[in-house]
Amino acid sequence: MITVKNLRKTYKIAKPQEGRFATLKSLVRPRYEERRAVDGIDFTINDGEMVGYIGQNGAGKSTTIKMLSGILVPTAGEVSVNGLTPHKDRREHLRGIGVVFGQKTSLWWDVPVIDSLNILKEMYRVDDARFRKNLEMFTDLLDLGPFLEQPVRQLSLGQRVRADLAAALMHDPKTLFLDEPTIGVDVIAKERLREFITEINRERGVTVLLTTHDVVDMEKMVKRVIVINAGQILYDGSMLGLRERYGGEDADIEDIVREIYREGGKTA
Ligand SMILES: Nc1ncnc2c1ncn2[C@@H]1O[C@H](COP(=O)(O)OP(=O)(O)O)[C@@H](O)[C@H]1O
Ligand SMILES: [Mg+2]
Repeated sequence: MITVKNLRKTYKIAKPQEGRFATLKSLVRPRYEERRAVDGIDFTINDGEMVGYIGQNGAGKSTTIKMLSGILVPTAGEVSVNGLTPHKDRREHLRGIGVVFGQKTSLWWDVPVIDSLNILKEMYRVDDARFRKNLEMFTDLLDLGPFLEQPVRQLSLGQRVRADLAAALMHDPKTLFLDEPTIGVDVIAKERLREFITEINRERGVTVLLTTHDVVDMEKMVKRVIVINAGQILYDGSMLGLRERYGGEDADIEDIVREIYREGGKTA
């Protein structure tokens, strides 16, 4: 289970200074301003759920995922994943989760994909039988075969994300965090990714929190969505409810999302 209570993250950023000697002033006496990336959010996600976390660029999606995976320490509030506090119980926490950032690989750049997977196997102490079974399943469902022997730097974006997904799941985590996994991926690879993630959720009962600003992702994959804008949650509920509330039965989901942002007032 994932629980987040009044969770906040504020980044301190250097403020550009004006006037004469601006650069020098910034160096000698930097001024900071605070940016509230996540501004007091609450939600609970039960085991086995698959939830879409949607919002425009800069809404606070990645910051949330980073706090849930223990990469960032919250400024305030509570976060609990599978009974652990991510940034405090890091080691144990990492055993229970898999994370994929669509824009950044967690694999070794110059190393063949299969070697990366083997390194992870050792790191997570995955036994041989389980490794073989997972490798077989992921190779089949994600069609990894053609590029298992290639280093990550030679892969297309779609192939790279597929390799990253396999890597994130090799140790059978209970929970999977996906940050824009389909961004920039071509249509066919996208479809394969969607099917795979859906299957992992359905067949293995893996809890999935997926950020996206791809409306088709949402429609095809999730029943529940959380909409975030300027660090605050605007909607948390079913896709159906989202439609009813904002547009009626046959409204276009893309229009609906636009409407929500307008209603939210703020832009990040
Ligand atoms: N490391 C950082 N330092 C300062 N500001 C940041 C940093 N990372 C993100 N931000 C800012 O925090 C806000 C939320 O960013 P982010 O969580 O990446 O949004 P999203 O993933 O929804 O696009 C944005 O205004 C962004 O510019
Ligand atoms: Mg992001």
